[in-house]
Amino acid sequence: MSVIISPASVAEAPARPLSPLAQHVADGLRREPKTLSSMYFYDDAGSRLFQQIMALPEYYPTRTELAIFREQGAAIVAALGGAGDPADFSLVELGAGDGAKTKVLLRELLAVNPAVTYAPVDISAGAMSGLVQTLSRELPALRVVPVVETYAEALRQLRTRPGRKAVLFLGSNIGNFGPAEQLDFLRQLAEPLGPDDRLLIGFDLRKDPRRIRAAYDDAQGVTAAFNLNLLTRLNRELGADFDLAHWQHYTDYNPLNGAVRSFLVSTRAQHVHLAALNENVEFGPWEAIHTENSYKFSLPQIEALAAQVGLRIAEVFSDAAGDFADVVLAARPVGC
Ligand code: TRP
Repeated sequence: MSVIISPASVAEAPARPLSPLAQHVADGLRREPKTLSSMYFYDDAGSRLFQQIMALPEYYPTRTELAIFREQGAAIVAALGGAGDPADFSLVELGAGDGAKTKVLLRELLAVNPAVTYAPVDISAGAMSGLVQTLSRELPALRVVPVVETYAEALRQLRTRPGRKAVLFLGSNIGNFGPAEQLDFLRQLAEPLGPDDRLLIGFDLRKDPRRIRAAYDDAQGVTAAFNLNLLTRLNRELGADFDLAHWQHYTDYNPLNGAVRSFLVSTRAQHVHLAALNENVEFGPWEAIHTENSYKFSLPQIEALAAQVGLRIAEVFSDAAGDFADVVLAARPVGC
């Protein structure tokens, strides 16, 4: 449908509400320092680039977590309660992506509980349809209920999901939140948990700072392309005119607080027009947009986080080198 608006009605028309992306960018680029959320990395192109990141030699978290699942999958499934009463057990995964790691757990789970339901949540419709296809081919017996939503909406739906559940949040995605948001998010995950429900959270652990930094600044430049893709997305979806020749990916790691931070750096003074916001944004020479946090954790820190939101650590599954930990959490009984 096309609507022709006369100049008079334009003057009277109330401002159209901004899309969530437009609102986010408007807020983020007005802030000091300018900030954009990593949530918007994962359009379909970004999700494909992230698949490439996960296969990079420098990016150790995915393959380490996969090895933990391969070697300790049966014990993990037992710790999640998957082997208990099969009636009404579902596995909910926030940020499922291509599900490569989860399939290892799903195989173990199907072996002890063929009635399990898998509810993957992902914000990328493209990633979800790829996942649903491979699951129907590789695990045809599995009941799958895909949810293409933000975490916030998925958490709302979680509150009303009947039956026992285990909620997965893998890949150290928890580290993409700042410290206050980590607590907030864990609290939201903890809130709908019954006594038999479990959380499985992947935490990237502190290690040689150089290895950590390299994982976020690979030699082939895939991570750079992933970060810069955010600007391509804004060009396409918000009618922006970011000139990618004058932007750089930069990353640092702070071993004091465990924070990896990624930035998009403007290599010269420039202004960018964003048609959807009807706005020009000025960037000074070498001004940075902060696009991502990726916090690294210690085990005592994880224990303290859990305790603050009324959770207890049921079990920790880790690799021999201590690079990564998959932690099973449960509600702390009232009064403890
Ligand atoms: N959750 C991933 C992580 O923190 C996301 C990620 C990997 C990422 N590499 C990145 C985000 C580079 C921004 C830039 O490990």
